[in-house]
Amino acid sequence: MVYLDNAATSWPKPEAVYRAMIEFCKENGANPGRSGHRMAMRASEKIMECRENLARLLGVPDPLRIVFTSNGTAAVNLALKGLLTPGDHVLLSGMEHNAVARPLKKLESAGVELAVVKTNREGQVDSADIVRRIRPNTKLLVVTHASNVTGTVNDLASLGRLAREHNIVFMVDAAQTAGNTPIHVGEMQIDLLAFPGHKGLLGPQGTGGLYVGEGIVLDTLQEGGTGSISESLDQPDFLPDRYESGTLNTPGIAGLNEGIKFILDTGIENIRNHETQLARHMLEGLAEINKVQVYGSGAMEHRTGVISITIDQTDCHEVCAELDEKYGIAVRGGLHCAYLAHETLGTLRMGTVRFSIGFFNTVEDINQALAAIRAIARL
Ligand code: ALA
Repeated sequence: MVYLDNAATSWPKPEAVYRAMIEFCKENGANPGRSGHRMAMRASEKIMECRENLARLLGVPDPLRIVFTSNGTAAVNLALKGLLTPGDHVLLSGMEHNAVARPLKKLESAGVELAVVKTNREGQVDSADIVRRIRPNTKLLVVTHASNVTGTVNDLASLGRLAREHNIVFMVDAAQTAGNTPIHVGEMQIDLLAFPGHKGLLGPQGTGGLYVGEGIVLDTLQEGGTGSISESLDQPDFLPDRYESGTLNTPGIAGLNEGIKFILDTGIENIRNHETQLARHMLEGLAEINKVQVYGSGAMEHRTGVISITIDQTDCHEVCAELDEKYGIAVRGGLHCAYLAHETLGTLRMGTVRFSIGFFNTVEDINQALAAIRAIARL
């Protein structure tokens, strides 16, 4: 199988990721942060190690400000629902995933006001439109770092500066970039960063997290046991315990830790270079195939390894099925849980066929994909 569906979940993982999960379950498997015996302590240490490695990777000064969640969506929900109250005004980009758009839609029915900021044709947020739309009650600017449909990357440093200038909380959905594109929450002035563990970070499904910046106080979405201050019925007010009730996914976090170590050892710039080189090769090949339309930016510095195409009026699900059944190529077709992005791109009716490149893909994988698209487009 040629796996080009890394935007949904990266595969394969580094061997150490699989090993760490099995090892944790077989050799340890105790509950972190609860009992005081040595197995429980080792489980807690594994979680702390992962927090510290995440902090190194993402430029987080205090690892305790990283909260583990079950996926990126859970992190986004905690950030949005924990932060916003009726009467707040939110600016979001027209390229957001449903993970952001749907919770905001629900909050809108409770009195939160929304404004969708314009993007250019490639899907990059228009800063001038942000400034035009700011109101006295604008509390939050939320943008995706890179679109899961086109791979178009937003300039976080300039958006962070803008948000800070206007005293607005800056939140980033890093679902498509954590682990494959450099992020530094301090330098980019990011207040809230939501990320999944199972995509670019090379961990297993069921992992994710939220960075909560200094001075940001979120209401809790759930309360319960944290292994700390059990003498009180009140939820702890310190991080990460305030937002981490219940037993964590320690086997998953042990695996995630190895994924992050692999990225730190390999170098995130090397990962990004590999993926964008393959993306460039694919874009050059696609440009020579009649009937193929490519969405998003042509400039490699403004994109990730996610490439969406249509082949004239050919049904995208049929293309995906043929790629799978006839050519052994795994991709995703349709709307990719991103209504707003397809509305912005004008592809709501048709959807797109999405190829998403990961670190373990090769030039040969891309050549096979191009040959298959050539054959399908000729029909
Ligand atoms: N959000 C993931 C994707 O884009 C699942 O496929």
